[in-house]
Amino acid sequence: MGDVILKVEGITKTFPGVTALDDVSFDIRSGEVHALVGENGAGKSTLMKVLAGLHKPDAGEIIYQGAPTQVAGPLDARRKGILLIHQELSLSPELSVAENIYLGAWPTNRFGVLKKRELRRHAASALDALGCGFGPDTRVGTLSVAMQQMVEIARAEAFNANVVIFDEPTASLTDTEKDQLFQTIRGLKARGVGIVYISHKMNEIFDITDRITVLRDGQVQGTVDTAETDLNQVTRMMIGRTLDTYFIRAKAEFGAEVLRVEGLSKAGVFRDVGFSVREGEVLGLYGLVGAGRSEVVETVFGVRKADSGKLYWKGGEIALPSPRQSIDMGMALVPESRKEQGLVLMMGGRENTSLPHLGLFSSVSIMNRPKELAVFEKYRSALSIKTTGPDQAVSQLSGGNQQKFVLAKWLCADPKLIILDEPTRGIDVGSKSAIHELIADLAQKGLAVIVISSEMPEVLGVSHRVLAMSEGAIVAEFEGDAMTEENLIDAVSHHRDDAAA
Ligand SMILES: Nc1ncnc2c1ncn2[C@@H]1O[C@H](COP(=O)(O)OP(=O)(O)OP(=O)(O)O)[C@@H](O)[C@H]1O
Ligand SMILES: [Mg+2]
Repeated sequence: MGDVILKVEGITKTFPGVTALDDVSFDIRSGEVHALVGENGAGKSTLMKVLAGLHKPDAGEIIYQGAPTQVAGPLDARRKGILLIHQELSLSPELSVAENIYLGAWPTNRFGVLKKRELRRHAASALDALGCGFGPDTRVGTLSVAMQQMVEIARAEAFNANVVIFDEPTASLTDTEKDQLFQTIRGLKARGVGIVYISHKMNEIFDITDRITVLRDGQVQGTVDTAETDLNQVTRMMIGRTLDTYFIRAKAEFGAEVLRVEGLSKAGVFRDVGFSVREGEVLGLYGLVGAGRSEVVETVFGVRKADSGKLYWKGGEIALPSPRQSIDMGMALVPESRKEQGLVLMMGGRENTSLPHLGLFSSVSIMNRPKELAVFEKYRSALSIKTTGPDQAVSQLSGGNQQKFVLAKWLCADPKLIILDEPTRGIDVGSKSAIHELIADLAQKGLAVIVISSEMPEVLGVSHRVLAMSEGAIVAEFEGDAMTEENLIDAVSHHRDDAAA
């Protein structure tokens, strides 16, 4: 670890009704990976937005390369060598890779004419340095999430960054993509770049970081060397208590079959998928990102079309439904991507919570405000959602708190079957168990529940039965004592070896 490159002192930032950062001091050294951890709404993203020129602090100082520095805006930050890679990627899909890398800072000649060749050449060398498999002319909209992230990281090369900040970078990456990202991070580190790493995945924190700073309610709780601390100490600093490591599973009392799927296929996506789920049962769907799990449940719900397959609802065969029919029947799907599918970002949490039942999908809409408020309060306290009040726009909430509202919105719909796609992604370790508890409650009330998760302990901990999915097919099913991590890994990896052979 080298010298301090960037230091903040006494940073305070308030929003109406919230003190997001309260007298925060912290530093980044060259050649280190510095974790920033804390509960949803602790102020992590806000602090990084201050460094990247997106928020002006109310008080405090940024000392960069030894001198007090004003960061005027995101472009200014980039030019100074401070690069933020956002929680939600922020590229322009219709522009090329090269144009995105230099967005807002396109090289021009003295007449202001864009130097296209230079743009391409610089971008190509930045992409080469990272070992990207695509060129500068590729349209960003055609790239996967992992590749788009590489484009953002290429900016670090292009602008010769000294500080690179990653805000929950692995949320939508496959394991292989994560390994590649970690390699890239180690490369940046070896070159003396100071790196800030924000994540709720504690295993990643202990894997890649050198120091850990904990934020809680906008205040720094302390900074520790990763090698000299452990999960218990860090969680205690984050949430004031150690974690319950056990999972809450609903009692296994099953009623009638709610949904059965047979021979569901879609060319190139999934094939011959079949399963069923009963009242009171939690069915886990485990697989790596990209195995086709989301595609299957989206097809069952009617968001996607299948080539063939049969669906039985409460014992009777039905045609593949539209989303509206699914909702009317009593099916709910909580999607993994909150921003695109889950929320109306400009609305408050109260309206978002009650939205599905207020005429978005049905023709009559009568607002029952006291009831709406009661529901809002119930979930706000159950999931410890951090918001100033029922009408605060959801766009102003932290990433994890938005996710909690997506869940609340569907939980109170009172469905017969609820499908939860990665329900705890982006959720802090302290709130995860509250969500597991809610899942158990739903099953105990007689709902059928399907939980998709890439986290093995989670899917094993909450489910009564687990299906393992790999490359578009269900490759194994486990129940009771057979539900172990070894068996799941085995099922998924053997299948992959077979497929490769
Ligand atoms: N633009 C904004 N307007 C109003 N309040 C905001 C705004 N941005 C953030 N906040 C509030 O500041 C607090 C800190 O939010 P921040 O996004 O920094 O949390 P976080 O630690 O990144 O959480 P998460 O882990 O959920 O991403 C939250 O209470 C949030 O609602
Ligand atoms: Mg955040």
